[in-house]
Amino acid sequence: MNSTTAQKSENPVYILMISMHGLIRGRDMELGRDADTGGQTTYVVELSRALAQHREVERVDLLTRLIEDPGISLDYARPEEDLGSGARIVRLPCGPKRYLRKELLWPHLNQAVDQCLHFLRQQGRLPDLIHTHYADAGYVGQQLSLLLGIPQVHTGHSLGRPKLERMLASGRKPQALEKQFNFERRIAAEEEVVKHASLIITSTQQEIDQQYGLYHNFNHTRFRVIPPGTDTSRFSPPLRGRREQNALKLVDRYLAEPDKPMIFSISRPDARKNIKGLVAAYGQSPELQQAANLVIVAGTREDVRELEDSEQKVMTDLLFDIDRYDLWGKVALPKHVSQDDVPELYRLVARRRGIFVNPAFTEPFGLTLIEAAASGLPFVAPGDGGPRDIVGNCRNGLLANTLESASIGSALLAMLQDRKRWRQCANSGLVGVWRHYSWAAHVEKYMKEVRRLLRRDKKRLRRQHAIIRNAEKSFMPLVNMAMISDIDNTLIGDRQALKQLNHWLKMHRGQLAFGIATGRSIESAVAILKKHQVDIPDILISSVGSEIHYGKKLIPDLGWAAHIRHQWRREVLAEALGKFPGLKLQAAENQREFKLSYIARPGDMPPLQEIHEHLHALKLHAQLIYSHEEFLDVLPVRASKGHAIRYLAYKWGLPLCSFLVAGDSGNDIEMLVGDTRAVVVGNHSSDLEHLRDQEQIYFADAHFAAGIIEGLRHYGMDIAAEIQLGNTVQQAELSHV
Ligand code: GLC
Ligand code: MG
Repeated sequence: MNSTTAQKSENPVYILMISMHGLIRGRDMELGRDADTGGQTTYVVELSRALAQHREVERVDLLTRLIEDPGISLDYARPEEDLGSGARIVRLPCGPKRYLRKELLWPHLNQAVDQCLHFLRQQGRLPDLIHTHYADAGYVGQQLSLLLGIPQVHTGHSLGRPKLERMLASGRKPQALEKQFNFERRIAAEEEVVKHASLIITSTQQEIDQQYGLYHNFNHTRFRVIPPGTDTSRFSPPLRGRREQNALKLVDRYLAEPDKPMIFSISRPDARKNIKGLVAAYGQSPELQQAANLVIVAGTREDVRELEDSEQKVMTDLLFDIDRYDLWGKVALPKHVSQDDVPELYRLVARRRGIFVNPAFTEPFGLTLIEAAASGLPFVAPGDGGPRDIVGNCRNGLLANTLESASIGSALLAMLQDRKRWRQCANSGLVGVWRHYSWAAHVEKYMKEVRRLLRRDKKRLRRQHAIIRNAEKSFMPLVNMAMISDIDNTLIGDRQALKQLNHWLKMHRGQLAFGIATGRSIESAVAILKKHQVDIPDILISSVGSEIHYGKKLIPDLGWAAHIRHQWRREVLAEALGKFPGLKLQAAENQREFKLSYIARPGDMPPLQEIHEHLHALKLHAQLIYSHEEFLDVLPVRASKGHAIRYLAYKWGLPLCSFLVAGDSGNDIEMLVGDTRAVVVGNHSSDLEHLRDQEQIYFADAHFAAGIIEGLRHYGMDIAAEIQLGNTVQQAELSHV
């Protein structure tokens, strides 16, 4: 054990972070390379690192997409990257190899769920917490959370509903927006996450009230404002005796009187950042010009004429306005400002007793304000959510109505002219940033919430445990066998034997997953299991394989539904089959989204071949399963008990040969053939006779559950020994069948 783990607390937690999009790596993040690589990608890496250092955290795995694309660095194709002290990036393939913008990831997210499950199986350990970022990872993490019974924490970063509203308000066409941004999928995923997550973390109170407030499921969730940490190590107040050499070079050559205080602003050249309003405020106020110079960093530029149209407009307006107000010698517009110059610029401004100003119309968060505060610099900012919270926490700035340039001007002047206030703001900003916005502060607040959440979760589990067995977290990724049985005429039929089997299954929980595969609907399956006192299985394959659910809570497998939807046209099929008078629809409860069921006695049943040809002629695709010489099930081509088992094998990373399956009739055939270990019970229907010559299928002599037990023994499971343990009565029962 190394020294870092030795210092960890007793039950340190394992956190699984998921952030699907953008380019994520541990060093030299390519910020701004595209719209998906920026704030969020930085945040997740810094958060993972900071959390891993906490004494109550054992490990943080940050899962993201693996990208193999000649156009981008090989770094993103590495399956694993160490971030130090117990944190790492884990990259999993999802969809095509090439880089995809986030709006295009939706069809591939179910694969990401499966990949995460495989990853967890390899780990041999399940996380205590899943923390997801943005709607795409929110979707993936919610599925995992449901499948595994692990609480989900979510950070939205930005939300679809407010964005859609904003864009519609600006006159964009709904259809075009949908095509470009896939809002429908995004918002649906967000609604589900809002409903499901145990905790949602936001940066500001306003984000909760005004953005999450737009969601229908708003009232379901617990929210907590924990502003992101900033890497304040890069930002610090000026030190005596030091000089900001680079910053001086960038700025002073523009200025006639460089020693004056400076009003400093930094932003992208974006109209909403309102650089225009700032220049107007300064240009229209002789006092302000008297009191300070103005320094504007508006992105970097080579040649204004080569900028994108909207940026070019901002820059030319700026240059024209400087000329119009005749601000030459008073305004500095540094051309090339690198990431490394920024902290120095703040320091230089602080040294000269200047002010940071954010003149934007809106500001949901305000990272630059925190950077300014960490540099000992008071600020003026819009009276919007982000700055409001920051001023509340740090008491280091003034809020202005940035829609009116005069309001910006008077706030700036008020701060510049009051030296005492300036000093107070600078000092309380330094303290406040450390207390509220450092990663250390963030992680402390975060862990407090997590402790509370896990405690609650444990209590919940204990409570449920007392009432119903089987309530523990899913151990599906950790099992090494699965036993899947049909219900009617297989599991059920011999009460004593079923009792023995149930007992044996219970003794092996944790290593062995128990499942049923039935033609019944999920409701009817649960009812009959209850009636026969069988514990609700870990896996429920119902409606002839067209639905998969898990455990007591009947969590649906959405990946399966998405997979089998392919080529399924239920209404059209129903109409086409109406042509055969021998087919009578079964009761309504047997008709499901992915299953059409008929009764067809042998005399009335048209030859299957004829039905196939009819559907084929109509270009319809479906699977026809006839069983018990009575039932005809029409299913999507990808759905059947057999396909469902193969999907489960893939999804949960278990080889098919570790599935022991048992059945008695036609709709079981597909799961009995192939690599599974199959048992056919002695009381099987004639549909299965033709399988006798298949050597990997064991035909038991005993009937019902006793047949399954016989099969388990045949496959060398330790069932015989256990059942003999003090249970001679049951032995006697066994031998009578
Ligand atoms: C169950 C179902 C029925 C189905 C039959 C055969 O009895 O309720 O809908 O047709 O199994 O799979
Ligand atoms: Mg059956």
